[in-house]
Amino acid sequence: MRVVSSAPVVEPAPGVESTPEVESAPAVESATVVESATVVESAPVVESAPEPTESAGLYVHVPFCSAVCPYCDFAVQIGSASERTAFGALLRAEAALWSAWDRPIDTVYVGGGTPSRLDPGQLEPMLAALRSELPVRSDAELFLEANPEDVTPGRVDEWRALGVSFLSLGVQSFHDAELRALGRRHDGREARSAVETSLKGGFDTVSVDLMFGLPGQDLAAWSGNLDTVLALGPEHISCYQLTIHEDTAFGRRRARGRLTEMPESAQADFFASTHARLADAGWEAYEVSNFARAPRHRSQHNLKYWRHLPYLGLGPSAHSFDGARHRWWNHRALHDYARRITRGERAVEADEALDGEALALEALMLGLRTVEGIDLPGYRLRYGVDLHGLNRPLIATLAEEGLVQCEAGALRPTRRGLAVADGLAARFRLA
Ligand SMILES: C[S@@+](CC[C@H](N)C(=O)[O-])C[C@H]1O[C@@H](n2cnc3c(N)ncnc32)[C@H](O)[C@@H]1O
Ligand code: SF4
Repeated sequence: MRVVSSAPVVEPAPGVESTPEVESAPAVESATVVESATVVESAPVVESAPEPTESAGLYVHVPFCSAVCPYCDFAVQIGSASERTAFGALLRAEAALWSAWDRPIDTVYVGGGTPSRLDPGQLEPMLAALRSELPVRSDAELFLEANPEDVTPGRVDEWRALGVSFLSLGVQSFHDAELRALGRRHDGREARSAVETSLKGGFDTVSVDLMFGLPGQDLAAWSGNLDTVLALGPEHISCYQLTIHEDTAFGRRRARGRLTEMPESAQADFFASTHARLADAGWEAYEVSNFARAPRHRSQHNLKYWRHLPYLGLGPSAHSFDGARHRWWNHRALHDYARRITRGERAVEADEALDGEALALEALMLGLRTVEGIDLPGYRLRYGVDLHGLNRPLIATLAEEGLVQCEAGALRPTRRGLAVADGLAARFRLA
């Protein structure tokens, strides 16, 4: 995943939704990694470590989809029925390999890929294993990603019975032509019906993912999508700007000149109109791409990424962070992941230890993407950087430009500031 300063909305990625990627991550030998991963408990406690009372998130990546969408850059494959069955056993084994993880877990996010492709008979033992091997709190919030074509009243009841409280639907669009162009397996009618069925299911939060900035999309078509989602009335909406990745069918079409990306100025108009429309409807943009009808519907799991809190990722490509300075990630290919787990090893491909400045910069970028912004005394305590003292003139200028507000010890982006959040962070001095 990349951070695009001029294109404000970036897509989520497994375990690291909207988290800036640290390009300089040194790849290390797997052997070292396994070691350093086991070191999670003994990782040096630095001043930046969160309080031990802060719970962790658990991300589980399910790498199967019924087809691979032409824009998708996630670790996914179609997979056979036997691969899907075997995957449950691999995840259970991986959870056991992490049983020394001692930070209490209060959010469990089953994402992908398409977790709704797994039948509840597969999901149930997987969730039971996570609960028995890892310190998952009994009141942990359970998130599940589902594709509209998998949503039926029966499935919704089964997901509720499994304890899912936050259901995230990958709708993308309500227009048939856009869905066809995105290679999706549902149409607009199915998308609406999936939202309606989910809303009757008794989840605490139903969330709808939409994408904008599609090639050829005009503002009227996008406003139509926003009108439809607002009329349906979910509790949470994510609006992601399409990113075209090189190594995807869309990327190859772009390279051949057969697909043109939306110009940046138009993307900025889409972003501004999205935020204005949802704010007018009373929705809170609590992060650049994420909107909640009320604070209790914010994604508590994704907030952990934005607040630099610890998370453990299981499954191919999943990323983890110890909440201090160590980060590691699993093999992306299912066969590499399976080979390691079958050998009785964690599937970590590489890790990195961020230095103080990298941590501080990342926290600044993440903080400026959320309405919470940066708690300045807390930032100073955790990262050892006096952000306010080092950037007084800049903060005054940004406030005059209407991009940030600095009051009561907090530096917060305004709605206009959110639109250029990543570019804003780059202007700050950290030393
Ligand atoms: C982890 S993905 C997968 C969820 C589900 N399988 C689906 O596609 O509906 C979560 C969300 O990321 C967004 N997304 C995926 N690829 C994207 C891309 N290239 N650019 C922007 N957003 C993307 C979509 O809105 C999607 O619903
Ligand atoms: S369904 Fe979602 S995860 Fe699967 S290929 Fe399409 S975008 Fe990627």
